[in-house]
Amino acid sequence: QLMDKGNHRHFMQKEIYEQPVVVAQTLRSYLRPLEAQVALPDIEFDLSSVERVVVVACGTASYVGMIGKYWIEQLARIPVEVDVASEYRYRDPVLLPNTLGLVISQSGETADTLAALRHMKAAGVTTGGIINVPTSSMAREVDLLLPTHAGPEIGVASTKAFTCQLAVMAALATNLARAKGRLADEADVVEHLQHVPEAMSMALAHDAEIEAMAPKIAAARDVLYLGRGPEFPLALEGALKLKEISYIHAEGYASGEMKHGPIALIDEQVPLIVIAPSGPLFDKTVSNMQEAQARGAQVVLISDAEGIAQAGENTIATIEMPKVHPLIAPLVYAVPVQLLAYHVAVAKGTDVDQPRNLAKSVTVE
Ligand code: G6P
Repeated sequence: QLMDKGNHRHFMQKEIYEQPVVVAQTLRSYLRPLEAQVALPDIEFDLSSVERVVVVACGTASYVGMIGKYWIEQLARIPVEVDVASEYRYRDPVLLPNTLGLVISQSGETADTLAALRHMKAAGVTTGGIINVPTSSMAREVDLLLPTHAGPEIGVASTKAFTCQLAVMAALATNLARAKGRLADEADVVEHLQHVPEAMSMALAHDAEIEAMAPKIAAARDVLYLGRGPEFPLALEGALKLKEISYIHAEGYASGEMKHGPIALIDEQVPLIVIAPSGPLFDKTVSNMQEAQARGAQVVLISDAEGIAQAGENTIATIEMPKVHPLIAPLVYAVPVQLLAYHVAVAKGTDVDQPRNLAKSVTVE
């Protein structure tokens, strides 16, 4: 039965655990492994005409847009703008021709996102939507529907919808890159994306460790999350998740911005969650982390074996992720970020699936 928690204590926990399966399910409709191709469904639209992408969404889905900006700009060299829908619809945005207007929504019913979609359609641009509920208003109204197959998401705090949206965003970025003649090795991308479910399962294997460290974070009043590149929006998502369900004040920051403000908050009482896969940006993030450590910050480092070997000292905990290609890192690193918020909330005894004041779908403004 769909609405059954199974062996899980909460829907959120169940949905975190479902991710390897539902992400694989979503990827199946975008990957053609035999042809070594990343495809989009329903593609009568010529992607090579796209000169810019405007992404509009709310909450967790807006962070998918931000991660997509890194991917699309890097892979396809197409400029991307990302806005939260409540701002977009009222700021009289400039919409140039050959824009792909993209909405991202689990429910397909969020009032502000739907209004932004209608605004873009009225302005005459082609619209696309990464949407989980196939019968929703947005799914019906977009020109190009890019479905996620996460299944019903019951927990108010989005988890599996987020990673499925990322999987589709990666497929879109790859297709835009191909349309622009910039995709050197598609087979390589297919291989990395196919590895996601297994890498997510490996991330889930750290659940007990994360549960064990949760009481330390649960005692904090404020928590900071740091990340760079595509892991910056993931830091924002980590902070949002923690706020939503544990009611602890949390902020996500781009690592390099820490010295422009949040470092003033750092002392022994403020845990710092650093999301930093090893790679070209790693040393920069570590140097930001060390500045914070010098001021007493209690660091939890989420990285791979290489990163932890290099920078895991003087932390209160490390969480070791498998070594993955940078394209898929946000999907894999999302898992410990979600688990941490989940276990902190459980430790605090909050209503994890129905946090106070929040709604699953915000259908009024
Ligand atoms: C609400 C939910 C969030 C979600 C956001 C956008 O705030 O609590 O989990 O990210 O709406 O919802 P959507 O259905 O448009 O993805």
